[in-house]
Amino acid sequence: MNHFLDIHKTDPADLRAMIDAARGMKDARDGKPKGTRDAEQPLAGHMVALIFEKPSTRTRVSFDVGVRQMGGETLVLSGADMQLGHGETIADTARVLSRYVDLIMIRTFEEQTLLEMAEHATVPVINGLTNRTHPCQIMADVMTYEEHHGPIAGKKVVWSGDGNNVFASFAHAAGQFGFDLTFTGPETLDPERAVLDFAAAKGHPVTIERNPQKAVEGADLVVTDTWVSMHDPQSARERRHNQLRGYQVNDDLMSHARPDALFMHCLPAHRDDEATSAVMDGPHSVIFDEAENRLHAQKAIMRWCLGV
Ligand code: CP
Repeated sequence: MNHFLDIHKTDPADLRAMIDAARGMKDARDGKPKGTRDAEQPLAGHMVALIFEKPSTRTRVSFDVGVRQMGGETLVLSGADMQLGHGETIADTARVLSRYVDLIMIRTFEEQTLLEMAEHATVPVINGLTNRTHPCQIMADVMTYEEHHGPIAGKKVVWSGDGNNVFASFAHAAGQFGFDLTFTGPETLDPERAVLDFAAAKGHPVTIERNPQKAVEGADLVVTDTWVSMHDPQSARERRHNQLRGYQVNDDLMSHARPDALFMHCLPAHRDDEATSAVMDGPHSVIFDEAENRLHAQKAIMRWCLGV
């Protein structure tokens, strides 16, 4: 049984196979209406639980549509409406759900919740985001980079802003897919040491450069994310804006990257905060391809989990 808990916990050959499978499944659907079932129905007869303890648009819809395209069925569950949100243990929830469904995707706050779910479930568990990581997003981002510009190995990726959970999965991916990652942001919002250590141990140490213009020089891909994450207190908003204003991705910053550099943001965005609308809607931007590729990448992840 394969859980998809994090990029650094998954074999690089399996990650590569999932990206390639996702591209194949996307190609096979080219031009078809979104509600059309795939020619292959690997999830026929499978029931998938999608648990959300935090809000979501992309993760919720892309998993739900992906399961249906592959012939399966979904149960979308809000953590607050489950006994999980009222004191039932994660272990008992995992054991019970495993009697009803074939696969569990959970978006939650604490990584420990995900890990306990995986430990006690007898069906595969997928990480749909925790406060620490967002691996499904970065699988879609690697796929998106490669469909535009070929292999990501050896390319220069620059993250500008908060060293948050999405950055953490980028750092894991740098180690597993072999690209060069630079972080530019204030020291107070540096990434967790453990994710930097992982990339370094895999031979792809993350470069830390406080000057955003210098950081972006020669970049193949520039990435940012919201300045205040879902798990950050809203009281941090003003301080975050003051800390991060200099790291906004705008036309001036993009002019320091390679002329054909891509721009990514996992969305949702606060337009004209972390990135200007000119960049988000401009020629470098592939943000809606990223959103679409959540669907295809996650379909490949689910197939890998279930071995179908
Ligand atoms: N990028 C992402 O995970 O989007 P949602 O929060 O809408 O799922």
